[in-house]
Amino acid sequence: MNQPSKLTINDIAELLGVSRSTVDRYITQGIIPQPDMESEGGHRNYNANGRGKILDLFYSKKHQIPSEKWKVISFFNQKGGVGKTISCVNLAASLAYLDYRVLVVDMDPQGHAGLSLNVDPTGDDHDIYDVLLHGTPILDVAKPAIFSQRGAPMLEIDVVPSTVRLAGAENEMHASIVRHEFLRAVLAPIQHRYDYILVDCPPSLGLLSINTLYASDAVIIPFKPEPMALRGIYHLIQTIDLIKRPAIKLGLNHPLSLAGVLITDYEEINLQKAYIEEVREHFGSKVFKSMIPHRAHAQESRHHQKPLLMMSSEGKPAADAYLGLAHDLLGIQNREIPIKEVSHV
Ligand SMILES: Nc1ncnc2c1ncn2[C@@H]1O[C@H](COP(=O)(O)OP(=O)(O)OP(=O)(O)O)[C@@H](O)[C@H]1O
Ligand SMILES: [Mg+2]
Repeated sequence: MNQPSKLTINDIAELLGVSRSTVDRYITQGIIPQPDMESEGGHRNYNANGRGKILDLFYSKKHQIPSEKWKVISFFNQKGGVGKTISCVNLAASLAYLDYRVLVVDMDPQGHAGLSLNVDPTGDDHDIYDVLLHGTPILDVAKPAIFSQRGAPMLEIDVVPSTVRLAGAENEMHASIVRHEFLRAVLAPIQHRYDYILVDCPPSLGLLSINTLYASDAVIIPFKPEPMALRGIYHLIQTIDLIKRPAIKLGLNHPLSLAGVLITDYEEINLQKAYIEEVREHFGSKVFKSMIPHRAHAQESRHHQKPLLMMSSEGKPAADAYLGLAHDLLGIQNREIPIKEVSHV
């Protein structure tokens, strides 16, 4: 008779080319069999049958093993008003709509990401400032933003909001030798709870943005086609490289990647077309196929504090473009893309 064999989660993760949290999720979802004996000391005991099923999965998944395993993705551009926040919250809404578990973290003292999702800390409510600097558990601060259509919940996103209190955080962080690592430290223990953690940066290259980049697997750079926009992006790439190098040196699994440049607030005018050509020349396939068109409903969705997907049909082209972005992103990572119809309110 075959003796049960001990496999650690790490063994299975390495074999399948996925993260440990994905292995746990596969077990919970029944994709990988439960260990046939109580796990002890981090080991899972599988008999020959269980091992066979894991190997079957390895062979069947071989072609689908993600090439990029990004979980924490930040929206970064030191230029103001280029569509960081709108892209962060609407990509979050699209991924949540496609049934992925999403957390949005607002790292901008303006607090627009939280407000755009109707999460508005008041009075004694805690926010990201308390999490970063006073040890408040992040999950105590995360609030569910639930959006319903005709009485039925359509999508749910967890949101860690920010307030103007965060503006003072950079000074406090400077005093610490781990000044770059505050956000990474608070996100590390909760990664397994989410498929994606999307972080909105402020329009600056200060410590709040640097903390966000250190905590991120990948960056999306929103690019609004307008004069001087490309020049700013070169500066960003240099900053991303500066973060990347120590990550590689430290042997981190996922040194910071550029997920892509996202063209936002795009109007069909010749001048913009020229800027877009230019950005494509420089970034080639790193420019997302989906471009976000200019729509008045972008302003309205912020006013109503809900994602574009929940707006009336005039907002549809922009909402669809963000769904397209979600598909682009899932495609880059060879992740499953559920087929879902969108019916706007
Ligand atoms: N596709 C669009 N159509 C119309 N308006 C848009 C579109 N995208 C963004 N906007 C508008 O442009 C403004 C800036 O967008 P957003 O706040 O997302 O940019 P940001 O880069 O986060 O800004 P900040 O640097 O201040 O944080 C907002 O008023 C938003 O409604
Ligand atoms: Mg913003």
